[in-house]
Amino acid sequence: VESILIDSESEILIGRDLPDPLLPPNPDRRRVVVITQPGARVVAERAMQAAASTGVEVSLLLMPDREAAKSLTAVERAYHHLADFGLGRHDTVMAVGGGAVTDSGGFIAATWMRGVELVHVPTTLLAAIDAAIGGKTAVNLAGKNLVGVFWHPRRIVIDLDVIASLPDELKSEGAAEAIKAGLLAAPEIVEAYLERGLAADLELVVPAAVRVKADVVSRDFREAGERALLNLGHTVGHGLEFAAGISHGRAVAIGLVAAAAVSERLCDFGETTTVIGALEAAGLPTRAPRVDRRSVLTLVARDKKRTAEGIRMVLLEGIGRPVLRQVTDEDLAAGLVAVGL
Ligand SMILES: NC(=O)c1ccc[n+]([C@@H]2O[C@H](COP(=O)([O-])OP(=O)(O)OC[C@H]3O[C@@H](n4cnc5c(N)ncnc54)[C@H](O)[C@@H]3O)[C@@H](O)[C@H]2O)c1
Repeated sequence: VESILIDSESEILIGRDLPDPLLPPNPDRRRVVVITQPGARVVAERAMQAAASTGVEVSLLLMPDREAAKSLTAVERAYHHLADFGLGRHDTVMAVGGGAVTDSGGFIAATWMRGVELVHVPTTLLAAIDAAIGGKTAVNLAGKNLVGVFWHPRRIVIDLDVIASLPDELKSEGAAEAIKAGLLAAPEIVEAYLERGLAADLELVVPAAVRVKADVVSRDFREAGERALLNLGHTVGHGLEFAAGISHGRAVAIGLVAAAAVSERLCDFGETTTVIGALEAAGLPTRAPRVDRRSVLTLVARDKKRTAEGIRMVLLEGIGRPVLRQVTDEDLAAGLVAVGL
């Protein structure tokens, strides 16, 4: 079992067969609510057993699948469940599932009685290397993630067997963020996908990607500066996600290619073919679907990264060497052309 610390607040355990101990030491704990979603039920039941074996009372709360878990209606139902169960100040919320459950479960833990202990058991690759790490919680309102608070999980437990058994589609979805982490600071991840595609060694990929996010977050918790680097591929990616209605991972993959092209133009980046090769090997698209270019541009312009001078984008001077740069509309246009827009 590998252990990675974020500040002194969160401990990440990476291993197999639900690495022990799932729950951090807490003599006052009497109850645990396990919040989950349909695809993670089997893992949630094992987590319940592990929690129950420590002598606490455990209750399961099944949220609706995917983004529906992040509605205020689902959150309100969850609060009633906690009230009926008697979850108190010294008790624990455990979120077992993909990013939708860690986001929503995190929000519930952060707001219940002004904040109770939170444990994450991410069961998708995306949640394990991204959503569960960094303390951002969120629910959706008029737009995605409009409501949320920062709340650190005390512990994050990643079971590599669970991640290895995911269907290819979910492995691809997470691979986009893993390759992003690799491009930022762990070239071995990019190599792993280039060489073996979706059969890339998760024992290498997961800890390396977790470390990239944990390092960035430790240095910059509230996103004043360095945390912005995690947005590599997301400027164009977000625009595409909503304009073309494609998944986040697929949109980020295309966004990474656009960012590589802009990097070629402004930073002498010379590895765009490596980026494309790794993404394709992971079953991800590297060209945009047919979609109105202007609608993507409008969404990019509205993106919060836009400042008075133009758009701030994360670019690469090389693999493992990211920089934040102001780019002009022409630079951005070159990135869009590179992905066929
Ligand atoms: N807080 C953050 O910093 C952060 C970062 C990135 C993404 N996110 C959020 O994460 C969410 C996306 O995460 P996601 O892709 O994990 O989505 P998700 O939670 O919706 O899960 C995707 C699907 O996988 C299923 N599933 C979960 N575990 C499984 C398993 N072991 N085997 C088979 N199926 C399983 C789920 O039931 C669901 O149908 C979005 O809401 C996004 O906003 C948050």
